Amino acid sequence: MNLQSFMTSDIQKAFDLAGVGDAPIVLQVAKNADFGDYQINGAMGAAKKLKINPRELAQKIADALRDCSWLALAEVAGPGFINLHLSNDFLNQELSGCLKSPRFNIHTSLSNQTVVIDYSSPNLAKEMHVGHLRSTIIGDSLHRVLKFLGAKVIAQNHVGDWGTQFGMLVAYLMERQNDGDSEYALTDLEQFYREAKVRFDEDAAFAEKSREYVVKLQQGDEEVLSWWRQFVDISLSHAQNIYTRLNTLLTPDDVVGESAYNDDLQPCVDALMQQGIAREDVDGSKLVDLIGQPERDGKTPVYIVQKSDGGFLYATTDLACLRHNINTLHADRLLYVVDARQSLHFTALFDVSRRAGWLPENVRAEHIPFGTMMGKDNKPFKTRSGDTVKLADLLDEAEERAATIVREKNPDLSVDEVRKIAHIVGIGAVKYADLSKNRMSDYVFSWESMLSFEGNTAPYLQYAYTRVHSVLRRAKDISSHVIALQTLEEHRLAVALLQYEEVLLSVADAAYPHYLAAYLYQIATLFSRFYESCPILQANSEEQSTRLQLTELTGKILQHGLSLLGIEVSEKM
Ligand code: ARG
Repeated sequence: MNLQSFMTSDIQKAFDLAGVGDAPIVLQVAKNADFGDYQINGAMGAAKKLKINPRELAQKIADALRDCSWLALAEVAGPGFINLHLSNDFLNQELSGCLKSPRFNIHTSLSNQTVVIDYSSPNLAKEMHVGHLRSTIIGDSLHRVLKFLGAKVIAQNHVGDWGTQFGMLVAYLMERQNDGDSEYALTDLEQFYREAKVRFDEDAAFAEKSREYVVKLQQGDEEVLSWWRQFVDISLSHAQNIYTRLNTLLTPDDVVGESAYNDDLQPCVDALMQQGIAREDVDGSKLVDLIGQPERDGKTPVYIVQKSDGGFLYATTDLACLRHNINTLHADRLLYVVDARQSLHFTALFDVSRRAGWLPENVRAEHIPFGTMMGKDNKPFKTRSGDTVKLADLLDEAEERAATIVREKNPDLSVDEVRKIAHIVGIGAVKYADLSKNRMSDYVFSWESMLSFEGNTAPYLQYAYTRVHSVLRRAKDISSHVIALQTLEEHRLAVALLQYEEVLLSVADAAYPHYLAAYLYQIATLFSRFYESCPILQANSEEQSTRLQLTELTGKILQHGLSLLGIEVSEKM
């Protein structure tokens, strides 16, 4: 259930009764749990407006709340805060509903929303590297959360498969295969790209041919297309391997590469010209002046949509893609999970699309930016020799390091078990280290901290889950369904468990997965305090039943919440 909105309807009535029905309520989770579970901060603002005494107004509101079944106590504090203590009877009842429901009693439904999430979207010329990690996993967790809340989610993997370098790659692929070298050619895409580039730079005839192929490719020449398709298929199958290892929802069906919009590029530019939104520049290129955007080098920035030689750009493809998402997919919300450095591109994309009437007022279009993954030296993460780190290598290392730790902690596990758990812990650690941070900031990649069993890490949360399971395994009888909260630790854990829905809604709205991570960490911490101070297996039967059920719900929410971050758990560790 959504506690906040449930309480809000009663609080609104209390505000009405106190004569301040129009004032914002400002209901928040209490900053300090010693003072209560929630607090209402709206009385001060309302009193200031009406020039009345804020504490008196707060007291009036608190009195009007007295009969609410969910409330144990409403206390006025400081200049006019109202601290709310939820009643244990109410919590007992809600917990039991939550335990019985497969969806934790979450009734909010975003089923009237179609959300297109553009994420991962690597350029296919090279193998996937660390730079692709953030978009892939942030996008995937948003996908999972929105889907769980009932939205119709369309994942869109907008791979770069259409630029100039594809002429070069096709030319090189043809050359190798004509030399009878079909086996070797595409096992290592990175090396393949480097070699093609060398050929391109040193052989003018080869470079000329490459350029010819780009044109042929974009004009739909069957032969060139079929070579290109070979290259694209192999790159995509590499990417799909990574997606599977990373436990993401992306499938080959989600790939809609830049090439898919080829036919709508010229019509897009023509439409912008006709509407007078784009203009022809002196050199013959076509562009839109981004009026209202901060100047760059003393000039209004521009969005080029067609080059002077007639070629199209990244911008044009995104305009065509956006039209498709609105007109054909009927999206209500567009999320682009892309590096923060592309923010001007997206500002321009949305601005031009709104002006052209392609992006209706009621459709939310959002760039979901993120910072860079840094090495210990505070520079973008690289290998020792300064190369970009292949994602496949990074995941191998994560699993190896996790295996060492798992073996140390639990020497009795079989080789197979170690491998399985190391996969869950290693991949989980890499993902969680990223998802638990505010995506807007850069962060330093550190094996030591992400694989630690202490602090806000995946292993800590995964371990909390195994601890829950070991308690449940040892409990002989969990057939009683009595829930009667008594201690403060039980109460705090219970309130937090019932906040799951409001947390998910805020993740969905703000597109911040770290809200969910912080919540799960809080649950694990509260559970650990509860576990230390409230004996479970030695308790009398009513206490034991209450505590076992709190334990069970903790396990379920940890497991479910982590699954929405795309992270698995294991009952043994
Ligand atoms: N392929 C692009 C890159 O690697 C990212 C594409 C993001 N999506 C988009 N619709 N522009 O930079």
